[in-house]
Amino acid sequence: MITIHLQPHDPTRAEHTLQVQPGQSLMQAAVDANLTGIQADCGGLLTCATCHVLVQKDWLSKLPTMSSDEDGMLAFTAQAREPGSRLSCQIMLTEALDGLQITLPESQY
Ligand code: FES
Repeated sequence: MITIHLQPHDPTRAEHTLQVQPGQSLMQAAVDANLTGIQADCGGLLTCATCHVLVQKDWLSKLPTMSSDEDGMLAFTAQAREPGSRLSCQIMLTEALDGLQITLPESQY
């Protein structure tokens, strides 16, 4: 199991901490935990951009390389793209991501 920390957009709200199995996407782990803030309307098919997350700077280099398809879909997020923007369905969880720090966007729509 690895630990993932997800901070709501509103910094006054409590952080969510998930204990999850590696080998699945961050999106799937969040959906399975009934986390609000990641909608994932397309179920991971990379066609909705409603699984947008903001990855804290120190973790960006540990993530899988962004594909051109993900890069293109990030133009369609509800909250404007930021340097740490990724689509959580494209982040496969590995042991190297134990402790990953994510901030949720204000909205997915
Ligand atoms: S779940 Fe639709 S793009 Fe990630």
